[in-house]
Amino acid sequence: MFVGIDLGTSAIKAVLVDDSQTVVGSQSHPLTISSPHDGWNEQDPHDWWVGTLAVLDALAAAHPQQMSGVRGIGLSGQQHGAVLLDAGGEVLRPCILWNDVRATAECAEFEHRFPHSRQVCGNVAMPGFTAPKLIWVARHEPEIFAATRHVLLPKAWLRYRLTGEMIEDMSDASGTLWLDVGHRRWSDDALAASGLTRHAMPALVEGTAPAGRLHDVLARRWDMKTRPVLAGSAGDNAAGAVGLGAVQAGSAFLSLGTSGVLWVTTDRFRPHPQGGIHAFCHAVPRMWHQMGVTLSAASSLAWWSRTTGVTETALLAELPPQVTRPSPVLFLPYLSGERTPHNDGTIRGVFAGLSSGTTRAEMTQAVLEGVAFSFRDVVDVLAEAGSHLTQADVIGGGSRSRLWISILASVTGLSLHRLAHGEQGGAFGAARLARLAVTGEAVDSVCLPPQRVETVSPDAALAATYATPLARYRALYPAVRDAMR
Ligand code: XUL
Repeated sequence: MFVGIDLGTSAIKAVLVDDSQTVVGSQSHPLTISSPHDGWNEQDPHDWWVGTLAVLDALAAAHPQQMSGVRGIGLSGQQHGAVLLDAGGEVLRPCILWNDVRATAECAEFEHRFPHSRQVCGNVAMPGFTAPKLIWVARHEPEIFAATRHVLLPKAWLRYRLTGEMIEDMSDASGTLWLDVGHRRWSDDALAASGLTRHAMPALVEGTAPAGRLHDVLARRWDMKTRPVLAGSAGDNAAGAVGLGAVQAGSAFLSLGTSGVLWVTTDRFRPHPQGGIHAFCHAVPRMWHQMGVTLSAASSLAWWSRTTGVTETALLAELPPQVTRPSPVLFLPYLSGERTPHNDGTIRGVFAGLSSGTTRAEMTQAVLEGVAFSFRDVVDVLAEAGSHLTQADVIGGGSRSRLWISILASVTGLSLHRLAHGEQGGAFGAARLARLAVTGEAVDSVCLPPQRVETVSPDAALAATYATPLARYRALYPAVRDAMR
């Protein structure tokens, strides 16, 4: 038996997976985000710990026998967040999350201090990444920076609580801007540009390697026969890729989660920092990946639902089952700024083209289409980066909507495969990494693709009607950016 824990942004999930890779139990605990200022997003790591204990306690209560036989635990974590610890290992401030864009000015500062950063770290400096956050803390909270002895990503902190060890895997470490991504080792130059040294960093391992053992007291709490081994584990996107079997060069998936991600696995380090492509290590050895990130994907629909006071299901029910023409309204989904392709932490969302006759349904459709247009931007920059995609698996909470998938297919030109368990996400991949760490089996033999239940292909007629709104969507960004500065 193996456990996979996904430390997400909106929830902590845990799955219990047996030796035939069947999910025998799953539990979830909600999380909230605190946004004290525009563009700021924080969580208290203590809440992650409470949530982790809650999901594991619940798994143990529901499946006591299986839980007692757990041999390995894998972690999947929201990426990029900075957990700052003092000399005693205590948390110094709330974690500054991946979708926090306060450190925009510090990105330029980081690249100024380390002019080769794009080549070495494989990425343009973005405010969501970890390094600029530390420069922001040094500038605005100097006493906290001075007390900082260790910087951990969210799931590395969770491992620290579970095992007492500070260890990070390559895929998540790639999102710090402190990793020499091509060589899979910390970059002293990148650390120095943030006022840090290797002493503040956890040890590095591959995601499939063993990386600590569960504390004895916790193993006893869940009545486990032996202390399970933790896997090196992965950032949530890489864990999702492992769960989908996206471990061969060219395998691609589109994740319609809080953020939107279009991922492609590569067999070498292929940076393309211009255009905002992320080039990171995969969670499996000797593999890398490229991805584009749109910051507000399913969260755009969640925002629209909160704003209207109507549930997402009810909003979607106001639309026809199949869209035949674009909404007359345009929506830029830049609610928290945007990464790919703009790398702009200051831009915000827009509805455009409203009239006195505009309906709520047209605005809902505009939200779905705006997210699809932002994915289309990612498809085009990935092509510039050498990855010409024609198809992808689709996962994440938003993938429950077939309508949204059909819009996405026609706007992006991708054939999208709906999966039997498209919402399992990172937790299942994390459980696979736990298995690999414990058994040492070959990656390919464990990371098999899930069953595809349907392929949604682009509709040529609908795709043609999107040419004009796509051009308008693209023209709107520079116009709004200039008008709002
Ligand atoms: C990836 C990213 C997000 C978070 C979401 O670069 O920032 O996908 O990992 O949890």
